[in-house]
Amino acid sequence: MTELGELVGQLMQASEDPYPTYDRIREHSRVCWVPDLGRWLVTGHREVLAVLNHGRVSVDRRRYGTAPDDDNGGYRPGGLPFVDPPDHTRLRSLVQDSFSPKTVARLRPEVQRLTDELLTRAAERGEMDLIADFAGPLPAIVLAGLLGIPARDQAMFRSWAMTIIETIDPVSHRVVSEDGHQARTDLTAYLTEVVAARRRRPEDDLISRMVRAEESGQRLTAAELLEMCLLLAIVGLETTTNLIGNGMSALLAHPAQLRRLREDPALVRGAVEELLRYDAPVQLAGRVAAEDIELAGQALRQGQVIGLVLGAANRDPLAFPLPDRLDIARGPANHVGFGRGIHFCLGAATARLEGAVAITALVTRFPDLRQSGAVKRRQNVHVRGFESLPLALN
Ligand code: HEM
Repeated sequence: MTELGELVGQLMQASEDPYPTYDRIREHSRVCWVPDLGRWLVTGHREVLAVLNHGRVSVDRRRYGTAPDDDNGGYRPGGLPFVDPPDHTRLRSLVQDSFSPKTVARLRPEVQRLTDELLTRAAERGEMDLIADFAGPLPAIVLAGLLGIPARDQAMFRSWAMTIIETIDPVSHRVVSEDGHQARTDLTAYLTEVVAARRRRPEDDLISRMVRAEESGQRLTAAELLEMCLLLAIVGLETTTNLIGNGMSALLAHPAQLRRLREDPALVRGAVEELLRYDAPVQLAGRVAAEDIELAGQALRQGQVIGLVLGAANRDPLAFPLPDRLDIARGPANHVGFGRGIHFCLGAATARLEGAVAITALVTRFPDLRQSGAVKRRQNVHVRGFESLPLALN
């Protein structure tokens, strides 16, 4: 096996610390063809941006005949991240407003209230598992509220969504277990009922707005509406959980930075951006070349798959001086933790709000906050985060 092959092998093992391996691959070549994977790997910041903003790359591998070998059945999330314009433009325009920074800012009091409620409960015990007791539930309750899932059903909604997420294979993006299929069937049936209820009596929530779009002239099919709800449940939860989990883990490992934020909570916006750069919850994105293109002197052929290592781009020394240093006041954020271009994360404003409220509350409310036991990492090279992160609060 080539040196590059070995490095990529290491990468695929969802290591504790993939960043030294990213560095070695980037030093080898910022855009390299990896025969063992049969795809390009892009690790340079400038080059990742060039692909994300390129007009002639696609997210639809089936269109170019390079879908994975296992692409022959079973459920895989569809919708926005997997379609090109013009379908992408149409679908995105229907939900864009509901996730705009202005709309999302209105959620702040509710996010603050939920945060305080969850942390008060934990404070009474003096300890918590950051993921199970706080970073997991918070985004699920917020998203359920946005969609218009009634409070009494939110625990069930989260449990189905988590089962689906946990059983998605990181390579094929397919649900691979019976539990996952059952959860998807149950969640689909449940969402179908909510959609029917909103059709009868619309409310001021995202599902009602999508129903109106569907009824007002074929801009959204009934199947697409359901797919969008499922997609949001799948991509909007674990990512935000991991922003809070990875972010707090990084701050706890850098006590001077933690102290700085505690003393000056106004730094939190920049801190969230730096944490997204330093340990991005989404490490990889994928594209396929829609025609022959040139990138950093390399010739990419139509149909070839391009793996974008967002986590490596975020540590590129050409873009970020001393990239391995956590500096919550680093300044203007140019990270690619939310991607870029037309597929830029739809939920970025929501995640930023939740991250800022959650992290501020944790660092200001608990001056003696510390890790109290062994952490457990998720075994996933794509979505990076913790399964468990025990904390002592008092
Ligand atoms: C810290 C949390 C989050 C991170 C790090 C994150 C990261 C990303 C990234 C990197 C992409 C681009 C993928 C690509 O270009 O292939 C993306 C797209 C997307 N994200 Fe997020 N995300 C987060 C939270 C959310 C939330 C809360 C939601 C919704 C409630 C959401 C919904 C989406 C959707 C729908 C897309 C596809 C957009 C499109 O294709 O037009 N994300 N996200």
